[in-house]
Amino acid sequence: MTDPRPVAWPTAPIKTERLVLRESEARDRAAVIELNASPEVGTYLGGPRPRAELERTVPEVPGRRPGWFVVELDGAMIGTIQLKPHAPELPGSNHRREAGGTELGYLFLPEAWGHGFATEACTAALDWFGGALPGEPVVLYTQTANVRSMCLAAKLGFTELERFEAYGAEQWFGVWSSVTPPA
Ligand SMILES: CC(C)(COP(=O)(O)OP(=O)(O)OC[C@H]1O[C@@H](n2cnc3c(N)ncnc32)[C@H](O)[C@@H]1OP(=O)(O)O)[C@@H](O)C(=O)NCCC(=O)NCCS
Repeated sequence: MTDPRPVAWPTAPIKTERLVLRESEARDRAAVIELNASPEVGTYLGGPRPRAELERTVPEVPGRRPGWFVVELDGAMIGTIQLKPHAPELPGSNHRREAGGTELGYLFLPEAWGHGFATEACTAALDWFGGALPGEPVVLYTQTANVRSMCLAAKLGFTELERFEAYGAEQWFGVWSSVTPPA
């Protein structure tokens, strides 16, 4: 599918205090498989994917598309961030259908949790996105039971649009914008 958003990609690597956000390379493949096979990572995402299937299907260079960042710490991948065109789940509510925009996703290896890396990396990714497409809304889905993800969404400045039931769990749908609406 062609990405309809007018973003220049790949972007130059984005450096934060501790991390680098960059496009993916062949050397990231093993960590991408690890991420998707991890039971901890998959807890609120429908479970881990079978490692054998991942070995078969993950491309030589994984995630080569606009807005798909590898997050690197000291030269090694610790997670990924995706900013992809938002495809509302159907049948969706008006909120979800009308939100449009871009959807944020984040996956970090469990050993990288609890250090503020996800906050640091997502903040940088949203800064980049807000600069590239000012005012374009970014939406986010997460299970309300996913406490770490709910905390992260709040720290990043996402606000709730609605909660709904899907996949046997309560889901949270929120929105972020680089432009603050007038009071
Ligand atoms: C969601 C996820 C990215 C959150 O990771 P995280 O490490 O908890 O997130 P943050 O970067 O915000 O880190 C916050 C933690 O770091 C701690 N921390 C340590 N040093 C810190 C620093 N310098 N700055 C900020 N926080 C710091 C905070 O106290 C907090 O710890 P606590 O939750 O134990 O109190 C991670 O749990 C994950 O990848 N989960 C699996 C994938 C998933 O469910 N994704 C959601 C659907 S898109």
